[in-house]
Amino acid sequence: MTRNDIPRSDGNAVEVRGLVKHFGETKALDGVDLDVREGTVLGVLGPNGAGKTTLVRVLSTLIRPDAGSARVAGCDVLTQPRELRRRIGLTGQYASVDEKLAGFENLYMIGRLLDLSRKDARRRAAEMLERFSLTEAAKRPAAQYSGGMRRRLDLAASMIGRPSVLYLDEPTTGLDPRTRNEVWAEVRRMVGEGTTVLLTTQYMEEAEQLADELTVIDRGRVIAGGRVEELKAKIGGRTLQIRPADPAELLRLADAVTRAGLDGIAGATADEAGGVVNVPIVSDAQLTAVVALLGEHGFALAGISTHLPSLDEVFLAVTGQKASATAAQDTPELQEVAA
Ligand SMILES: Nc1ncnc2c1ncn2[C@@H]1O[C@H](COP(=O)(O)OP(=O)(O)OP(=O)(O)O)[C@@H](O)[C@H]1O
Ligand SMILES: [Mg+2]
Repeated sequence: MTRNDIPRSDGNAVEVRGLVKHFGETKALDGVDLDVREGTVLGVLGPNGAGKTTLVRVLSTLIRPDAGSARVAGCDVLTQPRELRRRIGLTGQYASVDEKLAGFENLYMIGRLLDLSRKDARRRAAEMLERFSLTEAAKRPAAQYSGGMRRRLDLAASMIGRPSVLYLDEPTTGLDPRTRNEVWAEVRRMVGEGTTVLLTTQYMEEAEQLADELTVIDRGRVIAGGRVEELKAKIGGRTLQIRPADPAELLRLADAVTRAGLDGIAGATADEAGGVVNVPIVSDAQLTAVVALLGEHGFALAGISTHLPSLDEVFLAVTGQKASATAAQDTPELQEVAA
């Protein structure tokens, strides 16, 4: 199958209207509307229990909604489930590979399940292993893979059928920063090849890295949405965290940044417990200006990092309240920019 035979629908690869799914008293989806334009990435951001996985399961035809409608790659979830399944790929929140099987065998089996001939399934499996840098591990059982390797095998598995729409359900939760970057690079590559992606995440940084548009959900409802840049503007920018080599310099450093009156920078605050100075910034130019200023003053630094708003801060900014789920985890949202 090629991507050319996909029925077009107004440039949207995914269209969701009024989607409702209740589990007993729990309103997992409580009237969700969203669109994903063809060839773009929609990030669905929400805390634990927001309804992200439920949404992905409905859009994969794994469960039926109680009300509402959804079309994916031109196929209706309720009336065309078979056609729809042929056009999607799914990397679930929990690894779905068979631990006992080798990497190659996992992919070969999926190819056969997708009706590829033995020869095509073999070729496609080898191609995907190569692409996800797993060729050397191809013959080892997945049980021996590291977390990152498994996640890559999962991604490879979801790409075997050349899906036009790919769902990634929290693809990097629990991964170390290096592996996370590798997964992001692969996702970007798929998007570059024309795949439409619906990505769920609890990390603002992941959304910022990958998504064109963002939908924020909480308790089964969309509470904000729009282009990532627009939302960021609403939420506020990043915090630049500066760690002087000598903690006794904290106040002097904060004072120097505040007194410099750099364009658009209101001031700096010293966090003595954390040993850092925090500077709210909204642009890369401001970051550069602060770093240059520190150089001029000759401060010795132990580290500089930028910090994106956490999910809690995003919720606070868009709703004026904290996220409903109590378990929203602390997020490792530090991007090292210098050391
Ligand atoms: N099969 C089920 N039976 C009963 N309740 C369910 C079921 N699946 C989900 N729920 C409930 O629906 C709500 C939404 O769950 P869902 O798994 O969609 O959240 P999520 O946003 O994916 O959360 P997480 O970030 O923890 O993965 C939760 O309150 C959950 O307990
Ligand atoms: Mg989930």
